[in-house]
Amino acid sequence: MKRFSYTSQPARVVFGAGSLSQLGTEIERLGAQRALVLSTPEQRSSAERVAEMLGPRAAGVFDRAVMHVPIETAREAREVARRVGADCAVAIGGGSTTGLGKAIALDSGLPILAIPTTYAGSEMTPIYGITEGGMKKTGRDLKVLPRTVLYDPELTLGLPVGLSITSGINAIAHAAEGLYSAEGNPVMDLMAEEGIASLGRALPGIRRDPADLEARSQALYGAWLCGTVLGNVGMALHHKLCHTLGGSFNLPHAETHTIVLPHALAYNASCARDAMARIAQALGGTSAAQAVFDLAADNGAPIALRDIGLKAGDVDRACDLALQNQYPNPRPLERAAIRQLLQDAYEGRRPSH
Ligand SMILES: NC(=O)c1ccc[n+]([C@@H]2O[C@H](COP(=O)([O-])OP(=O)(O)OC[C@H]3O[C@@H](n4cnc5c(N)ncnc54)[C@H](O)[C@@H]3O)[C@@H](O)[C@H]2O)c1
Repeated sequence: MKRFSYTSQPARVVFGAGSLSQLGTEIERLGAQRALVLSTPEQRSSAERVAEMLGPRAAGVFDRAVMHVPIETAREAREVARRVGADCAVAIGGGSTTGLGKAIALDSGLPILAIPTTYAGSEMTPIYGITEGGMKKTGRDLKVLPRTVLYDPELTLGLPVGLSITSGINAIAHAAEGLYSAEGNPVMDLMAEEGIASLGRALPGIRRDPADLEARSQALYGAWLCGTVLGNVGMALHHKLCHTLGGSFNLPHAETHTIVLPHALAYNASCARDAMARIAQALGGTSAAQAVFDLAADNGAPIALRDIGLKAGDVDRACDLALQNQYPNPRPLERAAIRQLLQDAYEGRRPSH
């Protein structure tokens, strides 16, 4: 067995249908008296519902969260938090809203109570990202790790099927790369396998019936496990490619992950055989790359980068950017093979192995 180190991260998780009703108790537990509730403009009504539940413990609603946390939005939210005397941020929504809470926490140290409504997993990580001048800078700081996470599958019933599938495969990507991470450990491996298997079972169920609470619960449970893996061990080629494609070509986050993952796995397959066997087994297939591709294709997700806004002429630049900084990856980064990987993802080819 290889040597490893393992540090558990201090987050409290409350899981289950209807767990939003625990909000008051959980806020009390944090000792908060004036919570600023955060959301995107689209989820304003959920934020208002949360503020209503908090009653006098709500200091206001800030509903301007957007993808990739622009510095201007972060500054505005920090200013509002100061003005209303907030002592806690309650983020209800996906990774964009949790990300805004993190930007506030980074600046002020306010505790975050996260109520995730997608499968992105940001709520389980100490990773933050802020975009300034078109560049997204990311970092790690335990200050931004939410103190409490309320997972209520009922809040995901309205997540559109398309976003449910891509967000679920986004979560699978965290676990898949965790299984071959240079910082991997047996505890994260267990969570990764269980997370992938749970999402692999849940996503077809959600496609069949978006209101299937058991499938929604399984998906959110998987998202929790996969998000924990993302927060604990370093990622590799797949996340680097998606970060480049999202940041430099403004491609949508979850769709990009969904399209690139099968190709990143095919690239790494020969150098991470044990991880690939575990991913394939968790999805009930024989090839990790093909099983992920089929999960996406069979459930109506986009499979080609050209269908989500990448231009043929961007592929070379994406390749250059992806090769700029070296980072740990099971297989060394080889220009010709990475260029081919991006071409395959651009065209939406099913991996051959
Ligand atoms: N720091 C981290 O650890 C980390 C991890 C994962 C993702 N992220 C970041 O999170 C962002 C992506 O997050 P995302 O994929 O969750 O998307 P998102 O938060 O941008 O949400 C996408 C859209 O779906 C809506 N939505 C969310 N939940 C809904 C629901 N249940 N019903 C109806 N609509 C709903 C949102 O309001 C938004 O309009 C990216 O910026 C990514 O970089 C960060």
